[in-house]
Amino acid sequence: MKIMHVDASAKRERSNSRALSQHFLERLREEGLDIEVDYLDVTVDTPPHVNEAFAIATYTPSDERTPAMKATLAASDALCKRLLDADALVFAMPMYNWSMPSVFKAFIDSVTRTGLTYVFTDDGRIEGQLARQKVLFITSRGADLRAGPYSSMDALTPALRAAFGFLGVADPTFVDAQPLQFSDQAARIEALERARTELAAVAAHWANPAKPAPAPALEQDNDVMALSQE
Ligand SMILES: Cc1cc2nc3c(=O)[nH]c(=O)nc-3n(C[C@H](O)[C@H](O)[C@H](O)COP(=O)(O)O)c2cc1C
Repeated sequence: MKIMHVDASAKRERSNSRALSQHFLERLREEGLDIEVDYLDVTVDTPPHVNEAFAIATYTPSDERTPAMKATLAASDALCKRLLDADALVFAMPMYNWSMPSVFKAFIDSVTRTGLTYVFTDDGRIEGQLARQKVLFITSRGADLRAGPYSSMDALTPALRAAFGFLGVADPTFVDAQPLQFSDQAARIEALERARTELAAVAAHWANPAKPAPAPALEQDNDVMALSQE
């Protein structure tokens, strides 16, 4: 299985989302899955923000693009190819100000491409081209947004669902580790344990689709990882 693995936390050794995505890949290997990983750290190789040249070139039909337009789109073309070549996508990121890190938004802007990751069909529909890929989002959050005062603040999950739904990802899996910062130590440890348990179930399901897919996070009440220091 060819996996594209993307990390987006500004933190490195102390990042929980990075540790969880690494943990997930280790679980896949332990499940006996033969995986080939294409790794991208979007905090290091950050796709450029949309600028005027990109905005014009991306909507210019491919057979009408100038050499300069083609050059503008070259890095984005290559990123799209990496996504399309993968069998599975693992995206790990913290919640920043209720949504995604800006580097991951830049990634989305770079891979949402007419004629590549989505196409217009003959009958005028838009068809996302990532329908084949298994997709897992691992998110880490300081607060607990499952219930309570912050439950209406989650602008991350819907944004990821919308952006990747448009690209054909109908049923992504979410493992949300929360609360990891705005809580006591026991709640943080429990949140990480819960996330690791959910990731183990996802890994088992990916390795053996006959095994049941994990229940959505809200319906789970089980709980394991060294807690990195916030
Ligand atoms: C700039 C910044 C903004 C943040 N905004 C939020 C937020 O809106 N909601 C939240 O629950 N946590 C927020 N957090 C906390 C992080 O989501 C949390 O600490 C997470 O576990 C970090 O993941 P990481 O360890 O992979 O970096 C924020 C953290 C930072 C650094």
